[in-house]
Amino acid sequence: MKGFPDVRMRRLRRTRELRALVAETALDPGDFIYPLFVVPGAGIRNEVPSMPGVFQLSVDQLPREADEVQGLGIAGVLLFGLPESKDESGSGAYDAEGIVQQALRCLKQHAPDLLTVGDVCLCEYTSHGHCGRLDDDGYVNNDRTLDLLARTAVAQAQAGADIIAPSDMMDGRVAAIRSALDTAGFERVPIMSYAAKYASGFYGPFREAADSAPAFGDRRQYQMDTPNVREALREMELDAGEGADILMVKPALAYMDVIRAARETFCHPLAAYNVSGEYAMLKAAARNGWIDGDRVMMEILTGIKRAGADIVITYHAKEASRLLKP
Ligand code: PBG
Repeated sequence: MKGFPDVRMRRLRRTRELRALVAETALDPGDFIYPLFVVPGAGIRNEVPSMPGVFQLSVDQLPREADEVQGLGIAGVLLFGLPESKDESGSGAYDAEGIVQQALRCLKQHAPDLLTVGDVCLCEYTSHGHCGRLDDDGYVNNDRTLDLLARTAVAQAQAGADIIAPSDMMDGRVAAIRSALDTAGFERVPIMSYAAKYASGFYGPFREAADSAPAFGDRRQYQMDTPNVREALREMELDAGEGADILMVKPALAYMDVIRAARETFCHPLAAYNVSGEYAMLKAAARNGWIDGDRVMMEILTGIKRAGADIVITYHAKEASRLLKP
């Protein structure tokens, strides 16, 4: 080496082609899932103020959206619903005519090959905004909630959901949902469990989009506590044991170590949710000209995959896929 300029780490960075040749991580639209917010009515495309580029859509808008998503090679969509009306037990979640069930039937008819993922939770449907049934003292009752979650999962499967994704964080929900799906003849429908879902400030914009903010208190009694990673592995172990087919970490950015630990501990396919607040932060900074939005978006998505995620649920799915087009 002596007498020569030392560029040993730089040789393979010289051109774009060399960098592409040795890239260890690749983004692929086929690994993205795009969340959709479905609202009652017709002809509705409401932009969510804190999430520029993300819209609440009525069911009649979904075929167009499905064509766009599919044309970009995105794997699938994750459905959230805003019901016509809410009640104590969140009955809009498991009603056969519920908004997500209507959306699923429309999508399955229009674009049968586009994967549809049903988010199973009650918070968008309960009058109090919590993810389950309440006891008199306001505590979310775990076991009385399981039955409603299971009914929601079956209603979604009946409407054509390809994957069921429980996000409520009740204990034992994966087993309850698996058994209800099997009993109803949906043994082929996989479960993607929001296994390590943290109580996070990053869900703020989502709660505006889905109208699901809790009317009192917060979700710390059922969602995970930020300081913990070993506990996340226990959550995943339980969900895996109960029959989860895909495990998820959520949010992504402040929890990259959790994604990595999950990757090293489990052989299941691993999903990470790049949540609403992560999207909103990037958009706000980019709009101010403080960062290059496209560049930072690709950096974040690549980082989530490098940490160990196989599947990325992201509001950036369409814009990132457009940039990835050859
Ligand atoms: C429902 C649910 C939430 C998110 C996904 N499913 C909100 C919450 O737990 O309050 C958040 C998604 C996001 O912020 O993008 N429980």
